[in-house]
Order: sequence, then structure tokens, then C-alpha cells
Amino acid sequence: MKIFIDSADIQEIREVASWGILDGCTTNPSLVCKTGRPFRDCIQEILSVVDGSVSVEAIASDSAGMIKEGLDWAKLDQSKVTIKIPMTVEGLKAVRGLTEREIKTNVTLVFSMNQALLAARAGATFVSPFVGRLDDISHDGMALIHDIVAMIDDYGFDTEVISASIRHPLHVIESIRAGCHVATIPYDILVKMIKHPLTDAGIKKFYDDYQKIPKQ
Ligand code: G3P
Repeated sequence: MKIFIDSADIQEIREVASWGILDGCTTNPSLVCKTGRPFRDCIQEILSVVDGSVSVEAIASDSAGMIKEGLDWAKLDQSKVTIKIPMTVEGLKAVRGLTEREIKTNVTLVFSMNQALLAARAGATFVSPFVGRLDDISHDGMALIHDIVAMIDDYGFDTEVISASIRHPLHVIESIRAGCHVATIPYDILVKMIKHPLTDAGIKKFYDDYQKIPKQ
């Protein structure tokens, strides 16, 4: 499973890129807003750090506007720029239009199998079911991930499933079990994925025992 960071914070993104495990980055206007930086500056800097797909949200509500935004962003780096398109009728038209222009798309705010099927049929590069937001309203977010991955595999779509709106490390583990192509993970959860008390205890024990070995 590929690992994307779900963040617009350049320090976090740089840090995780330095671990050598980063395949991409997803952003949205709420994440950029938290940084207090201008949208374009933020995206440009992320593109300079991340060696992989960088999702940038389209803001227009009509397909022509979304396609125009996509063409503009793609000028920065078409191999990385991925336009995040909301699951609407206009969004589907935009996905088709951008796909025909060989611009990558990530259909976002997906909460059902039907929405995922439509995104895949429109030619989306990625589809992003939001696990945590479903859990928040007492629906089983991970069950939807399992169903969508199975559907994509059964029908042989090229679309990759991004497990999004991840809230804790178990969401990542379940995404792996579901055979998800990608998980986009907030920084604090990436850090938690590294940690294990037995690892820390083992390091301490080995260090302490090393100190007791007679010096030559
Ligand atoms: O990638 C989607 C993500 O940014 C949404 O997460 O925690 O706002 O539901 P959250």
C-alpha cells in the first residue's frame, strides 16, 4: 500500500519525506487554511518536496471551471499534480475532461459504492472514500473501503482507492487488510505507526546491556 501524507504543513511534509517512505500528498482547503499561507505558495512548495502525486482541490462548482483550474495547476508539474474533484454531476464531467487531457484526478468526498463506481467509470485516477467522517455518523467507514476495493478489483478498473479521513492507526491496518492501493495519513498518525512500547523497551535493554559489556 502506498503512503500519502494528508497535510498542507510543509514542515510535516518535509519531515515525512525525509523518512524515505512518502509516495504522495493530499491537501484540501481546510488543511491549507490551517497553515495561514497563500494557497498557491503552499502547493508550489509541496510540489518541490514531494516526489509523487500531490492532490490539489478544485474550487469551481462547474465542470468548465474545474477543468480550467486543472489545466492551470498542471502547468506547475503535470507528472505530480492531481486535481481533487468533488463527487457531483459537474465533478464527473470534469473528471472525464481532465482524464482526456491526461491530467490526474482524485474524486473526493466519496461516501458510497455508487459514487465510487461513477468516479471509476468517469476515468478517475484515484477515488477517496472518507472513512473517519462515516464513522463519525455511526456508519462503518472501513466496510465501505473493503467494498470499494473489491469492486475496483472485480471489474478491473485502473482507478486506485485512497483510504482518506484516517483518524487512528487501526484505520491504516484495516486499509492494508482491505488491499487498499493508498492510505493518506495525517502526520500524528504516521508518527504513531512507528511507535511500539516493545520496540522502545528492547532498544533500552540492548543499550543498557551494551554498557555492561567489559571494555577491552
Ligand atoms: O483526505 C481527506 C481528509 O483531509 C479529511 O479528513 O479528518 O477532515 O475527515 P477529516
